[in-house]
Amino acid sequence: MTLSLNVGAPDFGGIDTPLLVIALASSPSLSDELRPVDAATGGSLGRALTRRDFRGGRDETLHLAGGERGVQRVLLVGMGAATDRRSALRRAGAIAARQAARMGVGRLAFYAGTMSAGDVEAAGLGLIAGAWDFRELKTAPPADEQRAPLEEATILTSDTAARNDGSRVARAIGEGHSLARRLGMLPGNICTPDYLAATAKEIADRYSMKLTVLGRAEMEREKMGSFLCVAQGTSQDPKLIAIEYRRGPKGAAPIVLVGKGLCFDSGGISIKPAQGMEWMKFDMCGAAGVLGAMEAIGRLELPVNVVGLIGSTTNMVSGEAVKPGDVVQASNGKYIEIINTDAEGRLVLADVLVYAKRFNPSAVIDAATLTGACVIALGHTATGVMGSDDALVQEVLDAAKRAGEPGWPLPLWDDYKELIKSDVADIKNSGGRPAGTITAALFLKEFAEGYPWVHLDVAGTAYTESDLGTVPRGSTGVPVGTFVEFVRGRVR
Ligand code: BES
Ligand code: MN
Ligand code: ZN
Repeated sequence: MTLSLNVGAPDFGGIDTPLLVIALASSPSLSDELRPVDAATGGSLGRALTRRDFRGGRDETLHLAGGERGVQRVLLVGMGAATDRRSALRRAGAIAARQAARMGVGRLAFYAGTMSAGDVEAAGLGLIAGAWDFRELKTAPPADEQRAPLEEATILTSDTAARNDGSRVARAIGEGHSLARRLGMLPGNICTPDYLAATAKEIADRYSMKLTVLGRAEMEREKMGSFLCVAQGTSQDPKLIAIEYRRGPKGAAPIVLVGKGLCFDSGGISIKPAQGMEWMKFDMCGAAGVLGAMEAIGRLELPVNVVGLIGSTTNMVSGEAVKPGDVVQASNGKYIEIINTDAEGRLVLADVLVYAKRFNPSAVIDAATLTGACVIALGHTATGVMGSDDALVQEVLDAAKRAGEPGWPLPLWDDYKELIKSDVADIKNSGGRPAGTITAALFLKEFAEGYPWVHLDVAGTAYTESDLGTVPRGSTGVPVGTFVEFVRGRVR
């Protein structure tokens, strides 16, 4: 369930809340507006600041007891020397909501002084992200052991327009984030290509989008030999999902968002080691990002044309599975030598990127958990960004930064193409370990022809194997924010 996000005026004399969160930058002092809160804590708020028990460092928290009614508890959350106030507010919101969920308070009020619409949006997104959890596959504990989930948060700031506009946007994007995170968490036996197609249908129905779904038979007709060779080892029907949102000027070229939707990646015949293989249920996070973005864009009613494309299947071992040395032909006619069946994402995306051309796109952005090499290069902090158009790469990097999902460029130089030259076919699907993220992107580039294109390698950023403080183990919601910010950037 997504957090219900409300807004209100900071009337600390009249307020009744089980938890008041106060987000403060470094070296905080007691403002006049907060004097009633100081009184509600019997003066301990002011003393915590003057004694420097709480210094406002990034992620620092301090819990103070309040009264029996009114402000019942206070949680101070530090934002550090906030150079980027929005990302600091997003972070503080997430930390606060997670802490509130641990306390079991059910609802909270959030205060950070004067806030613009963008500030409210950022805090709201943080609160929604922090309150998000995934417990639908756990049996509920006995009632007396349960803690109330955080169901409601109210952001307190004086500017009515700022708080209304900011919270509306936060709700929309937050819904997209939550959807993407849930899809990521769902295991491969529940979140199948069929399930992604059904989810796309729900979104399409909700916002009057046009939905097209190609299965194995339709893809055979389109001669998508690259995508289909990955799906050869599974009995599940692979799906190419196209979801079209058209609220922009009639005939205006759409933005096309593409996602890798491997509902599980065993590696195929080039099988992965057993240790940690369960994480490969997250190999559909690019697709989840597309669906999350379409949900958010639908809610925001942005006046723009956007097409979401998903290539979804499962990379499995079987007697029918594609094997190293096989040569397949993609729908643009190019022959591909399969060196490693675990380099399957690029094979799926190749045909989806060729399919994208029929929409006559103004820009195509794909997101994929494509290479382990990207995790080695950039860790879990930055998404790898590469593309065929420098201006578009910069535009995507800017959008990613605004979304708090930072990306970093890698050089997509032709020099690296040497590594994916095949002896027998036009190209091979793996260049081995050197520059693995770049050669994967160069492979995609062979199929992303006829439009400006950017590729996001989200292998390190779409999910996390350790608790990040703001996010528990599992999906992060990346790249929903990047996609939505890019589209918003084009509307402005
Ligand atoms: N889905 C994986 C990439 C991946 C690895 C994502 C680890 C997240 C964490 C992808 O399909 C894959 O297996 N890539 C191979 C490519 C190699 C065979 C050229 C890889 O990264 O090892
Ligand atoms: Mn793989
Ligand atoms: Zn994969």
